[in-house]
Formats: sequence, C-alpha cells, structure tokens
Amino acid sequence: MMPAPTSDAFLSAIRDCYTSGLNALFAASPTRASDFSFDVAGLYFDFSKLHISEESMAAGAAFAETMDFAAWREQLLSGGIVNQTENRPAIHSAMRAAHPTLADRALTNEILAARTALDGFAQQFETGEFTSSNGAPYTHILHLGIGGSALGPDMLLKAAAGMGLKPMLEAHVVANIDAAALLPALDACVPETTLVVLASKSFTTVETMTNAKTVQAWMQQAGIANPRAQMIAVTAAPDKALAYGIPEAQILAFPESVGGRYSIWSAVSLPFVLAFGLAAFHALLAGAAAMDTHFAESRVDGNVCAIAALMDYAYANALGADSRATFAYDDRLGLLPSYLQQLETESNGKHVSREGEPLDVVSSPAVWGGVGTDAQHAVFQLLHQGRVLVPTEFIAAAQPAHPHHDHHALLLSNCLAQSAALMAGRTPQEAAKKLGCAPDDPLAVAKSFPGNRPSTTILLPELTPFTLGALLAFYEHRVFALSVLLGINPFDQMGVELGKEMAKQLEGYLGPDAVAPDAGLDASTRALLRFIQP
Ligand code: F6P
Repeated sequence: MMPAPTSDAFLSAIRDCYTSGLNALFAASPTRASDFSFDVAGLYFDFSKLHISEESMAAGAAFAETMDFAAWREQLLSGGIVNQTENRPAIHSAMRAAHPTLADRALTNEILAARTALDGFAQQFETGEFTSSNGAPYTHILHLGIGGSALGPDMLLKAAAGMGLKPMLEAHVVANIDAAALLPALDACVPETTLVVLASKSFTTVETMTNAKTVQAWMQQAGIANPRAQMIAVTAAPDKALAYGIPEAQILAFPESVGGRYSIWSAVSLPFVLAFGLAAFHALLAGAAAMDTHFAESRVDGNVCAIAALMDYAYANALGADSRATFAYDDRLGLLPSYLQQLETESNGKHVSREGEPLDVVSSPAVWGGVGTDAQHAVFQLLHQGRVLVPTEFIAAAQPAHPHHDHHALLLSNCLAQSAALMAGRTPQEAAKKLGCAPDDPLAVAKSFPGNRPSTTILLPELTPFTLGALLAFYEHRVFALSVLLGINPFDQMGVELGKEMAKQLEGYLGPDAVAPDAGLDASTRALLRFIQP
C-alpha cells in the first residue's frame, strides 16, 4: 500500500522518530514534554509520548497544506458542501455556536428554530406544563434510538450521573432490536408517567420503529388510550413523525445536515436535557464551541485536532498500526469508547476518495478501548507485550466529583504509570537483575517489555458538561482533519446499507411464517437458516 507522495517526508520523519525511540527522544530534549503538550479549552493534551518531533510537525503541516487543510476547514465551518455523495454541508459546529452564522441563511434559521424548540420544550417540561396523560408529572424517560441517535445520550447520562448533578427523573436508553434490551427497561418504567422519546434522524430505522411499536402496546395494555400523546419525536424527517401520529408540538426537528453521529448537540440529547437540565446542556455546547474556536483559529502545528489526525495517519500508514485504543480512567466515561468507535469508524472507515478513486492508504484505524483500571486486568497485556502496535489514549480528570481522594490518587497513579511503562519498557538485562538470573533466562525474557509504545494523555481539570463538550468536539474535528489528509468524505456511511438490504431479504425465512431457504441464498446462510428454523 503506497501512501500519497505528498506525505512521504512526513511519514519518513515519523519513522525516524520510531527508530530513535521515545526514551531517546526524551533524553535528547529536556523540553520535550512541554514542546508537545497543549492547553486547550481548559484541557491538557500531552502528545510528547508519540513519535513526534519538530521535523515531523513541519513535514506534517506541509502535508496538510498540500491536502488543502485550511480550505476544507473553512468549507466545513462555513457550511459549505463537505458531504459530496449527499450534496450536503455538515453543520454540527454551528449547532453549538452561540451565534451561528452559516453562508446559507436558511440553514442558520433552521438551527435557531431547532434550538428554540428544544429549549422551549425543556422549559415547558421543567415548569411542569407538559404532563403525562393522567396529569401527573413524568417520572421516567424511555429513549428509543440506535447508533448516533442513542450512543450520545446514553454516554451523557452515565457521565452526568457521576458529576454530582442530580437527575430530575429516571432515564433509560434502548437501542437494540433484541427485546432482551427493551424488556428490562420496560420493567423499570411506569407506563402512565413515562415519556417516550423516539429519536431517529430518518424516522425509518427498523430497530427504533420496532421498539416503538412494542412500547406502544405496553402502554395500551396499561390502559393508556393514546400512547402517542406521551411520545416525543426527535428527527430530521418531521413529516414522517407527523404521519406516524406524533402531535406536531411534540416533534423536535433538527436539520438534515446534522449527521447522526454528530447529533449529540441537538434534541437527540433530550433525555440528558430533561434529566439534568438545560443549563448542563448549554455548558456542553459551550465547551464544544471553545474547541471549535481552537480548531478554527490554530495553525496545524499548534492545533490539537490536526496534530492528533496527523499522528493517526502516520501510525497507520508509516508504522502499520491499524487500530487505536482509548481508555478513560474515569468510570463515568465508560460509554465513551463506544461513542468514539461510531464517530471515528463510521466517518473514516472508507475505501474510496472524494472523487470515487480507490484509496491507496489505510483510512480509519479500528477504534476500541475501555475503562481504566478495569482494562489493565484484561487487555493491557497485549498493549505492553503483544506483537501489534496500538497507539493508546488515556483520558482522566485531575479532580474527582466524590470525596474519595484515596481512590482517585490510585486511579491516576495507574493511568500515569501505564503510559510511562508503555514508553519505557524493560530490557531482559533489567528484568534479569530484578530476578537474579541471566538475561537469556526464559523468565527474564518473558518479563521484558519492548517499550517505545506510543500514547497520548488527555487530562480534564474535572469532568463537567463543559469539559466533556470540549473533549467530544476535539474528537469530531480530529476525525474531520484525518478525512482531509485522506482525501475522503467522512459524512456518509454507505457501508451500512448492504447488510440492511440483505437483512430485509432474509426476514421471510425467519419467524412464525418462515419459508424454506431457497437456492438463491449462499450455502452458508442456507445451512444457518436450517439450524434456526423449527
Ligand atoms: O445505519 C447507520 C445509521 O444510519 C447511523 O449512521 C445512524 O446514527 C443510525 O443508523 C441511526 O439512524 P437514525 O437516526 O436515522 O435512526
């Protein structure tokens, strides 16, 4: 696989850093830690344990320039077309701007209307004007949505619950079409006082619509004559929600140009807004807007989003690292890795360029991760001694929101130790010295660590809606910056379609009225169906 020639100097500078090794790079420069660390929107980004140097940054900036980074950034932020296959802008940044001004005035008005509708509904809800069908205040929210219509609110609810904010009602998010996901949520909710949110940008997604049907039946069984009066639709297809029977005043529309995985800044976050209040949501937006300003105004070599994207590009295309792992040393961010997985892989997991040419570079790394310290006792063996190179990211809050500072000190000591250990490694000689054996003793060899393994650490002063907003916007812009380096469209997701079409074709072979598998199916699928069918 041959990366674009314009990236040659950059990739070669990265390879040089790798050959030198991180320990040597630190030894050579007493200012390395500060040279490659940045304070942005109150967050601290430490890139110094990546294979980065002044030379690689200069070459990376030149590479970004040849890929028209500044022009594409301007195109994104001004609302120009950046989603070529769907002929749309991508306006998630404008959704959180205090005063959105896109080149297209109608689009700006659409954003303002969406914001006014969400704020208005939240205020009505907070003041008790919007009550359940029996007139009682709502006690529960059941949010139905999948992918970008669920991962964001689910992550926010879990994060906020540990920020010291008191939830005003109990919220549940159900995504999977597997009824095993829905039934426990129904058991936890009270039909008469549950507000049901149907979040679907398209308002056609089979998982969400199937769950909505079952929830409606559950409400009817409880004697609720008109379940749709207790339902809110959050969608970019308000006509479909209206046709479905949701009252117009209960439809919170958002613009079509807000991608599903970028929709956390819209009414898709309704359960978070209703459970934790509008002020918390506005703080989330403000944090993201602060990162937007940094992304918009900083040169590539001081722009944390662009630097992270350059390093993603380099690790995949110079050093063969085709996955990246993120570990939140913060239990409240337990759902962040799944959120980032969709954001990054659905955006940049592409095989053709904007012009439809096959890519000759690796696009998105496979993004995975978990929470620390749990993951240390499960997958860190691979990170330290496995034969694959996995750039690793550590995220932590300097201060906890609880009084157990002893726990927090241990949490952070582990977080810092892991990145230091990945970098430092341990030679067989060092291991042997500790063990009192020869360096070629199999035990000494087994207890040695190659080191030179790259990591980024992102520290938040504390986890708040503001800092979380800034963190999420960092990842969004990093994804966009990587797409520019790759020359691809990050805003469509054609790769999810084929499987959906085939699932539709297979429906007739399953369930109570299933027909026998026919010769049109591949042999493996036929055999699997024969096993499933009664
Ligand atoms: O199938 C992929 C996808 O379209 C995602 O991009 C999206 O976030 C998810 O499905 C849900 O789609 P919708 O919000 O239209 O229900």
